[in-house]
Amino acid sequence: MILDGESIFKSFFQGKKEIPVLKGASLHLARGETLAIIGKSGSGKSTLLSLLSGVDRPNSGQLNFLGKNFTNLSENEISELRASKMGIIFQQFFLIPHLTALENIQLPLQINGKGSQLEEAQQWLEKVGLADRGNHFPDQLSGGEKQRVAIARALVHSPDLVLADEPSGSLDEKTGKEIMDLIFQLVSEKMKGIILVTHDKELAARCDRILNLENGVLLS
Ligand SMILES: Nc1ncnc2c1ncn2[C@@H]1O[C@H](COP(=O)(O)OP(=O)(O)OP(=O)(O)O)[C@@H](O)[C@H]1O
Ligand SMILES: [Mg+2]
Repeated sequence: MILDGESIFKSFFQGKKEIPVLKGASLHLARGETLAIIGKSGSGKSTLLSLLSGVDRPNSGQLNFLGKNFTNLSENEISELRASKMGIIFQQFFLIPHLTALENIQLPLQINGKGSQLEEAQQWLEKVGLADRGNHFPDQLSGGEKQRVAIARALVHSPDLVLADEPSGSLDEKTGKEIMDLIFQLVSEKMKGIILVTHDKELAARCDRILNLENGVLLS
């Protein structure tokens, strides 16, 4: 098992008003499995991914990643686990603005002590069709180009789990399909897992399973 989430609750506070978002959501992901999460805007999909990635903590519930219980880990331990074993494609990309496209892609390799691995990063830049954009800073890239850099950065260190929030949202149909092929290829060749948040029914149907986030719980 790559990931186990059991009875996850999460609410936000707006002043004194509690806004419950997740109300006992559970999910499981096996090795080599692809899982799509669908649900209306505002249903809590991005919130769920931020908990699964350990960026934020649930109010209650259990999260296990590669046999490790998040509850027992410090922020530093979770950050390390995330940097080495996860690849995250955020809905807002979160590229580092003062690093070029190529440097953004090199970052996970450097963080994981694999040196600068220039060649590896360049290969990924090519795979996402941006060989000639390596020296551009994020604000010199189009939305879809930024998204592709974010995808290359998430995959370059061959993570065990890819968490992807609308990864083809800014891409045209053809580019989106090519990029998704890349992600699915990585998962199937190397027995990785992916949790994919998407509004795209066709894309969701490419996954082994689909869960619907509705009223704070995940339904199959
Ligand atoms: N930090 C926060 N403080 C208060 N409320 C929040 C916070 N983050 C998210 N929310 C609320 O939680 C709900 C779920 O947000 P979330 O971003 O997870 O939805 P989503 O399913 O990803 O939507 P979309 O499909 O539009 O991306 C929303 O109603 C949002 O307003
Ligand atoms: Mg979202």
